[in-house]
Amino acid sequence: MASPPPRRTGNAGRYLFLFLLGLVVGAVCTVMALRALQARQDPFPDALMQVMARQSGELDRAAKANRCTTSDTLPRVQSLRMLANDIEAAFPGLRDDTRFAAAASGLRATLDKAVAQPPADCAALAALTRQVGEDCKACHRDFR
Ligand code: HEC
Repeated sequence: MASPPPRRTGNAGRYLFLFLLGLVVGAVCTVMALRALQARQDPFPDALMQVMARQSGELDRAAKANRCTTSDTLPRVQSLRMLANDIEAAFPGLRDDTRFAAAASGLRATLDKAVAQPPADCAALAALTRQVGEDCKACHRDFR
């Protein structure tokens, strides 16, 4: 009476199939969940910050590349000044916080001065980018 050989190989294929199916279903569910989360989130605040970061970065690069004439820098400074108008609108939950409002006003004050009297040389531009960086940090320290 020989017992039949155990059928391991057939099961291995089935497990592999179930494992792969689980992976695929998991991946699809993850993507769906992430998209749902993303759809609930307002892209405006991050978008505003990213554009401000890009404009400040361009100013930094201009200073380092010795492109420090008014025509190099003024358009960036003006863009930053306009963007800074929307900080409160982008963070409606924070706009009533006095420290938040003070930080936003501080950045606008720096940029107002720079628009009225654009940096004339690379030293002035470097000083401006340092000051703008400080103004960004003044808010991020507390609210980011
Ligand atoms: C008055 C407040 C305030 C000022 C001023 C401010 N930020 Fe922000 N920033 C925030 C807050 C709040 C967040 C966090 C946003 C979030 O996580 O949704 C943030 C986030 C960011 C981010 C990350 C965005 C992302 O996609 O997660 C960048 C980049 C950034 N800020 C750049 C800047 C730059 C550059 C400046 C200055 C030119 C600046 N910020 C000035 C409040 C400010």
